[in-house]
Amino acid sequence: MKRIGVLTSGGDSPGMNAAIRAVVRKGIYHNLEVYGIYYGYAGLMAGDIKKMELGSVGDIIHRGGTMLYTARSEEFKTLEGQKKGIEQLNKFGIEGLVVIGGDGSFRGAQKLTEHGFPTIGVPGTIDNDIPGTDFTIGFDTALNTVIDAIDKIRDTATSHERTYVVEVMGRHAGDLALWSGLADGAETIVIPEADYEMSDVIARLKRGQDRGKKHSIIVVAEGVGSGFEFGERIKKEMNLETRVTVLGHIQRGGSPTAFDRVLASRLGAKAVDHLLTGKAGITVGIEKNELVYHDIDEALSRKHTIDLGMYTLSQELSI
Ligand code: F6P
Repeated sequence: MKRIGVLTSGGDSPGMNAAIRAVVRKGIYHNLEVYGIYYGYAGLMAGDIKKMELGSVGDIIHRGGTMLYTARSEEFKTLEGQKKGIEQLNKFGIEGLVVIGGDGSFRGAQKLTEHGFPTIGVPGTIDNDIPGTDFTIGFDTALNTVIDAIDKIRDTATSHERTYVVEVMGRHAGDLALWSGLADGAETIVIPEADYEMSDVIARLKRGQDRGKKHSIIVVAEGVGSGFEFGERIKKEMNLETRVTVLGHIQRGGSPTAFDRVLASRLGAKAVDHLLTGKAGITVGIEKNELVYHDIDEALSRKHTIDLGMYTLSQELSI
């Protein structure tokens, strides 16, 4: 293998730049030519591809976002779109591809693999919802952003003796809500992976009130529903002064934490090593602090799971 490509796709996540840097630098270290593909699969189909040098990835390890830009492409889901992409890869003489992104991006990588093009997926998403890795690149940074925001909300919640509902991202996964809720001592955490009854949420709030608690934080994962609807119901059923904060895209930005930079560097470099040993159609990840890889079909067929022990713990600690 002489020439490889790298792209980022789907929602950006902090640490993607560190992963791009690792792919480029590890590739060049192994005397490969590395091509950056801009705007994800959309750019791949359009041939928006440029050769990267060592300096192309200088001064990016600490920056959020992705210097290769990103996109969500409907066209690449079609056979025609995939063929266009492979034509461009062949035109540029690219023999292997590293795709950094979430599950949608991995489905694109799976299609390329099915068409015989050696592709490796590196998990990058704030949602932490990719099977085959304990952590995805960007989750830790997003988590710390959420914690910082909730700490600030708690200050004002305490001062005004209010109940706050904080809606956090995660698409269908509750990881960001669960980890931030536990880290912030939220009174209630609502996630898609655990059944809940509104009556239980209300009962918990009432128990808190009875003990003299004057403010509460409820963290709601977006996968469960709208934070505003939650806030309305609490206001109605308890007659409590309630405010709702939807953290939104602030969770996707910012300088990556040390954890995300190191994870991105390890996974990006490992993907290149795997391509060089002839592996393809795999995703790389980290499990119990060991770098691992899984067949992409197998990883995508697995259901994302969450540590429900942490959920129980959060309830035990915020009685
Ligand atoms: O997958 C990352 C993510 O930020 C999810 O948490 C969220 O549901 C979604 O992307 C938002 O997508 P968009 O940026 O297209 O609005």
